Amino acid sequence: MITIVGAGKVGTSAAAFMMMKELDDILLIDIIKNKPQGEALDLSHAASILGVSIDIRGSNDFKDMEGSDVVVVTAGFPRKPGMTREELVGKNAGVIADIADKILEYAPKSVVLLTTNPLDAMAYVMYKRLGWERERVIGFSGVLDAGRLAYYASRKLGVSPANIVPVVIGMHGQAMFPIPRLSTVLGIPLTQLLSKEELEEIEKETVDAGATITNLRGYSSNFGPGAGLAVMVEAVKKGLNKAFIASVYLDGEYGEKDVVAEVPVIIGAGGVKKILELPLTDEEKQKFHESCEAVRKLIKAIPPEYLKRP
Ligand code: 2OP
Repeated sequence: MITIVGAGKVGTSAAAFMMMKELDDILLIDIIKNKPQGEALDLSHAASILGVSIDIRGSNDFKDMEGSDVVVVTAGFPRKPGMTREELVGKNAGVIADIADKILEYAPKSVVLLTTNPLDAMAYVMYKRLGWERERVIGFSGVLDAGRLAYYASRKLGVSPANIVPVVIGMHGQAMFPIPRLSTVLGIPLTQLLSKEELEEIEKETVDAGATITNLRGYSSNFGPGAGLAVMVEAVKKGLNKAFIASVYLDGEYGEKDVVAEVPVIIGAGGVKKILELPLTDEEKQKFHESCEAVRKLIKAIPPEYLKRP
């Protein structure tokens, strides 16, 4: 069973994409009375129309997540227009610590994926609070940032995003680091296919994408995160050993320790199988380090009681 904590826009979009992929039965948990039940009923009708036979339930009781092998955490305060992801750190750290305690109690063997912002710092809270091996705690948004880079590059190139292997590393925030030199179309780097101005434009569009959506429609993205979560959960459930960009706890990789940041990883049964190290130039290493430092700054603002088991 897949449990999704948070039946808001991201949680329900993730549930919809996972339902369409028929990954497993889905439980939506939310503290708002009747909300997850209503969302689950609507999704169940959609499944019935699509001829998908999975069970989708809603609950306000964390105990119902017992037996889940994957827990997706989407709960927390979302970004409002004009707000940065970073401004959410204080509010959401407590939410994540509380949810970690429920996971420890009811789904101690699960793989946990998380979308709550500021993403890398919240994945750090989840990792520390759970006290598990790092392979089972995955911060989500690298798939989203990379997907956005592929989208913006594809529009300039006139080639399908499916043919682009996009690389974005670092923080899921203003300090994120798209790398066109290592992003390719069938092995040809984007730096050979696009002009300097075009590259600067797609890098900026990628970094600003979340804010652009939020400013346009008044609330933050949900379909991109939902789709990204579905493909990552698929990799775990089916043991696909697929490469993604994801936020994981670094313990010496890229010269970084005790921080969470987006890097390429292989995901399969049980979570992260391997962290891949990109061949970065000294300048790129420095940029990645600066991005990790931006995450560390947020981590310093987290009340220490949230960073250990209760
Ligand atoms: C995004 O990038 C809100 O972080 C989310 O769309």
